[in-house]
Amino acid sequence: MADVQLDFLGSLRRTHMCGELRASDAGQPVLLMGWVHRRRDLGGVIFIHLRDREGITQLVFDESRNAAAHKRAQELGLEFVMAVEGVVTTRTPETVNPNIATGEVEVAVSKIWILNESRTPPFPLEDNVDVKEDIRLKYRYVDLRRPRMQRNIIMRAKIALAVRQALYGQGFLEIETPFMTRSTPEGARDYLVPSRVQPGNFYALPQSPQIFKQLLMVSGYERYFQIVRCFRDEDLRADRQPEFTQIDLEMSFPQEEQIFEVIEPLIWRVCQAAGQTVEEKIPRITYAEAMRSYGSDKPDLRVPPFHCVEDLFADAGLSADGLPLVAIHIPKIGQLSRKERDEIKAFGQERGLRVFDDAKRLERDYPEAIAKTRERARVAEGDLLMLAAWAGEPSGALPEHTVLQACGQLRLYIAQKYNDRHGLLDPESFKFLWVADFPMFEWDEEDQRWNAAHHPFTSVHDADLEKLTTDPAHCRAKSYDLVLNGIELGSGSIRIHRRDVQSKVFAALGFSEEEAKRRFGFLLEALEYGAPPHGGIALGLDRLVMILAGEQSIREVIPFPKTAKGTDLMCEAPSPVPERQLRDLGIRLNVPQ
Ligand code: AMO
Repeated sequence: MADVQLDFLGSLRRTHMCGELRASDAGQPVLLMGWVHRRRDLGGVIFIHLRDREGITQLVFDESRNAAAHKRAQELGLEFVMAVEGVVTTRTPETVNPNIATGEVEVAVSKIWILNESRTPPFPLEDNVDVKEDIRLKYRYVDLRRPRMQRNIIMRAKIALAVRQALYGQGFLEIETPFMTRSTPEGARDYLVPSRVQPGNFYALPQSPQIFKQLLMVSGYERYFQIVRCFRDEDLRADRQPEFTQIDLEMSFPQEEQIFEVIEPLIWRVCQAAGQTVEEKIPRITYAEAMRSYGSDKPDLRVPPFHCVEDLFADAGLSADGLPLVAIHIPKIGQLSRKERDEIKAFGQERGLRVFDDAKRLERDYPEAIAKTRERARVAEGDLLMLAAWAGEPSGALPEHTVLQACGQLRLYIAQKYNDRHGLLDPESFKFLWVADFPMFEWDEEDQRWNAAHHPFTSVHDADLEKLTTDPAHCRAKSYDLVLNGIELGSGSIRIHRRDVQSKVFAALGFSEEEAKRRFGFLLEALEYGAPPHGGIALGLDRLVMILAGEQSIREVIPFPKTAKGTDLMCEAPSPVPERQLRDLGIRLNVPQ
């Protein structure tokens, strides 16, 4: 770095932030501090864009007015840290910058302090720069200075505040639960922490505070919440990180309805904090309806549902007996070319579907049925209408489910591929949805056993209690997901509060009484000490901020995220540890070289 004489901060205090000044401030003396965002040297005049968290102000160093300040400004490089004293002046109409909030003014600088220098940044600090994510993550502290990242991180803080305000306002208490604990059953692998004082023993980092929040209800706290870090060792994707944040809550004596009544105003408030307006009431459908209308348990409501029409084509032989024939309808796509239709067919085929894409032919062969289909699906001129059915023989434990799911994927594939024609998948349209009454169990083909579809503490529908052992496939759970634009935002359930019911569920899941006691003995015992009916939900904060910020990955709204391989590129974690540290923990490595 060049040898620049640096000044002390001393007793300097800023009077304004860089996003604050307006034409009405003209004539005011100000003291600003921040980073050199841009620099333009016109010889006798130097323009600097000074940036802080709140925005950008243009500084003017005019040699003819203040030679000393102008001289020092010549030493400034990008991202130098500085303080300036000067007077706010209005710009001439032709030099007004409409792109920044302070664009009508500038500050004529009389005095300058250079507080620190900077190496040339590894990439320009503009919003739309094409920089490899690896580089951005290695220099994350620089990347986080970019206005877009600052907007995201500030939005995240505002959303967290809105969550707290909403929940404190509804009588929830913020209570912390441990990070060094036992395994929690959320379906991923645990991150383990070895104990030094008890060699050979490990803590598990919580996959969620599930058990503790239930215990807090047993302890009589009635309404708990926490904005809490959770840890899951699972394959990473754009919407998954190994450590992520949940808005986690639990309440005593609730109906499902009451959980919704807590979350709906919270969501409304959060969206408002993010500058968005949404409907106050969130629509709800059952899991069975979601599958039958969207082929997905997380429907994207921005695209219209599909329709099962096997009843209209009863003798046509287009679908196998008892399996759905699905009419996929995507508005305003217009005419597709042969090639485009073939692509759609191929996508369906890969998922086991036979796609009837030729609308004219369908019309000719089944005029009446097609007319009724158009009516049922409200198909208008210029909309796309295709039929899809299972191509082979029905297979698997739930063949209908398999067909609907494949059709759901096809529906989304077409909608996404042709979004530029219909524009339905508008990132600024926020369609929340409750999906309720999930099945209690999922059949695991590989292990030939039932798994808990949510987690093993979820209540079964009162009417289905007897089916726990006789007909697990048709047990409905008192569980619900909150979905936003096709992404699962949160999950929750009414819990089991009776020891006898919990034992039955463990038995249905194939846990022996011993295994259940070994893993969750303390919870089972707690249920014997006056556990109230209780239930709750957890929303993914990262996903919520991601969608509201219009981002495609949660990495864009997490200050220090990990790569898809779970690496923190900046501090190079995970990393080997010295032999001695391992010895203290009683650990010997057995890693293939
Ligand atoms: P669940 O496992 O569905 O439920 O998690 C709740 C929400 O947390 C978010 N989420 C994640 N976000 C980022 N990265 C991840 N790896 C990740 N995993 C989950 C999702 C998800 O909807 N204890 C229950 C909740 C309850 O029953 O109250 C639970 O954790 O947005």
